[in-house]
Amino acid sequence: MTQLDLSPLAGALGATVRGLDLGAELSSETIAAIRAAFVEHHVLVFRDQELSPEQQMSFGRRFGELDTHPFVEGNAEYPEVIDVVTEPDDVFNFGGGWHTDVTFLEEPDLGSILYAVDVPQGGGDTLFSNQHAAYDALSETMKEMLDGLVGIHSAGPQYADGGSSTFHKSMKTKEADLASAFVAHPVVRTHPESGEKALYVNGAFTVSIAGLHGDESAHLLRFLIRQATKEIFTCRVQWEPGTLVMWDNRSVQHYALYDYAGQRRHMRRVTVKGDRPT
Ligand code: OGA
Ligand code: MN
Repeated sequence: MTQLDLSPLAGALGATVRGLDLGAELSSETIAAIRAAFVEHHVLVFRDQELSPEQQMSFGRRFGELDTHPFVEGNAEYPEVIDVVTEPDDVFNFGGGWHTDVTFLEEPDLGSILYAVDVPQGGGDTLFSNQHAAYDALSETMKEMLDGLVGIHSAGPQYADGGSSTFHKSMKTKEADLASAFVAHPVVRTHPESGEKALYVNGAFTVSIAGLHGDESAHLLRFLIRQATKEIFTCRVQWEPGTLVMWDNRSVQHYALYDYAGQRRHMRRVTVKGDRPT
């Protein structure tokens, strides 16, 4: 198998991949090697890429069918592309706060591929947290308790009327009246490629845990979300124009830091469709 030039980003997850031009026609052996590294390291960072939206979409399609976001308007020319933009006079950013992408869908995207077009002079990093490590660190008794539980997810808190996710000058919400639906996913999911278990609740979209009283659910969720995002499980990406990061939504949560008020940041995102979590 093709050997990639990989170096770790941090102790818990993440790797930088050197020596590849993602805009070129990559062989299926190289794609297989990238996929294996993606499943093993969960977050892959590629520096100094020069990608048009078409090239980013073609790269994404090597990993599966691309998705379109149900509630965020895509790029006018390329609906599968979302321009994630913070304008200098926006009051907050998209993806701020720990979350996993689109867990309010029955079949959430398996991965997201984000490419930096324009970055602030300083700040605007993204954090990632390894949900396998967060699960593994729990006691056996807690794992047994969680293994049968079901989380209820909804886009409502972020996208329904009054939701805050896209109060941005350059990003538009669509179909917000459909955002209040509920979807059930296991609290602990098994990665379909590695077989590893991972915590699968997040503070943006998981609204409760089925079968518990309201206060039981709220306290357990609070504990799990704290566990999921302890710094020992995290890594951090500092962006430069031309950095591309792909992350495995079956394995990580992420957090786009907003510490660059008054500056512009523009990322281009595509997502790859996934399966129903089990
Ligand atoms: C996203 C997201 C992170 C960032 O696109 O899903 O959370 O750093 N963005 O912009
Ligand atoms: Mn996100």
